Amino acid sequence: MRKPKSYYIETYGCQMNFSDSELVEGLLAGGGMRPAPSPDKAELVLVNTCGVREHAEQRVFGRLGALKTIKSGADFMLLGVIGCMAQRLGGKILEQAPWVDLVAGPDAYRALPQMLDELAGGNAVQLAQLELDGKETYEDLRPRRADPISAWVPVTRGCDNFCSYCIVPYVRGRERSVDADTVERWVRREVEGGAREIVLLGQNVNSYHDGDTDFAALLRRLDKVEGLGWLRFVTSHPRDLSDRIIEALAQCPTLCEHLHLPVQSGSDAVLGRMNRGYTRNYYLERVRALRQAVPGISLTTDILVGFPGESEEDFSRSVALMEEVRFDYAYTFRYSPRPGTRAGGWDDSVTDAEKGRRLEQVIALQLLHTRGALEAMTGRVIEAIPVREARSGDGKLQARTRSHFNVFLSADKSTVGKLLKVRITGNTGMNLYGELAE
Ligand code: 5AD
Ligand code: SF4
Repeated sequence: MRKPKSYYIETYGCQMNFSDSELVEGLLAGGGMRPAPSPDKAELVLVNTCGVREHAEQRVFGRLGALKTIKSGADFMLLGVIGCMAQRLGGKILEQAPWVDLVAGPDAYRALPQMLDELAGGNAVQLAQLELDGKETYEDLRPRRADPISAWVPVTRGCDNFCSYCIVPYVRGRERSVDADTVERWVRREVEGGAREIVLLGQNVNSYHDGDTDFAALLRRLDKVEGLGWLRFVTSHPRDLSDRIIEALAQCPTLCEHLHLPVQSGSDAVLGRMNRGYTRNYYLERVRALRQAVPGISLTTDILVGFPGESEEDFSRSVALMEEVRFDYAYTFRYSPRPGTRAGGWDDSVTDAEKGRRLEQVIALQLLHTRGALEAMTGRVIEAIPVREARSGDGKLQARTRSHFNVFLSADKSTVGKLLKVRITGNTGMNLYGELAE
């Protein structure tokens, strides 16, 4: 066996995982490997996995089956599984998919080059030390960025919240913050490299802290970086959304008028069992404070249906909360028990059919609310950044708005990456149409 010369990374899951893939790419490319355009042209294929729902893991096993066929048709190909599912299942992946050559969790990416050396030296399948390191932030690595306009900058890794349904604290370990000087250096480097938009990432960015620098202070510091267009951050935990952060949102010109604020449920009983650390009223109060400080702020959320013991009454509280807030968008999920989590041991009492019905109901409701939010924007002039030619092939550009919607507009390709003023002319129910306003 020899060392692979090219790589291809396939990524599932959240933005943190996509950002991690960029770090791993940086590591591999820095070691002299080149990116391949597709798995069948790569000598190393890595699948960066998510473990948040069972369905996500089943998809990966399906994908590993397809990659087995590619591997058996190739002269030389190594296959690796990385990410949250690699951390959760470790050696079990090798039992179920013995054609996999290496497994490494989110804290073990630095070991990848050495693992490849070991494989090249004829050593057997490589299973990274799956002990979570607890300190790793990869802050000295340089990601290989795919998107020229928008750059992810991880500011925290791991999670200490232990929501009772969630696998993340077990597969990504304890929360740690990247020091503020390093974050600022990263942001400056990305802005100098041409990024217009910076997205700060973490499982719960609001609890960021480095000495005296809390998240609000970090935002104010980054807001001053010269040349920065837009600044946003995901994901916020409602419990840690302080008045200071809301003030920063209101006062920092680069901070976009958009916040992703997962509520999960509108029932206090369910929120309590989820260990979310806030009540329905507290959440609604935060929404009021946000809307008062930043009029017109776009709010998106996550809604989880079918949590153990979620009664019809509990569910109707979630629906009523959605009606009350009228989110601009909601990511909706059906509960999936995760072994090892607290709720994983509880009676998964809501039937599949019932979960499906509840999910459909919240999806339909959200579609209405999203359409309403888009319609209310007709005629307004907003800031947008074209990111690429639209896939529709009608010559339009696809742009992103500060409120995080897509807007399709007729404009010259040379405007890609530029901050534009756009007048909204209509919508598709999910995306906007617009024209250049000046
Ligand atoms: N089942 C279903 N959805 C889940 N999420 C987290 N854990 C689970 C689970 N066990 C959802 C939450 C979270 C989002 C990233 O995924 O809504 O906010
Ligand atoms: Fe992201 Fe959580 Fe999935 Fe890991 S398990 S990829 S942290 S959503």
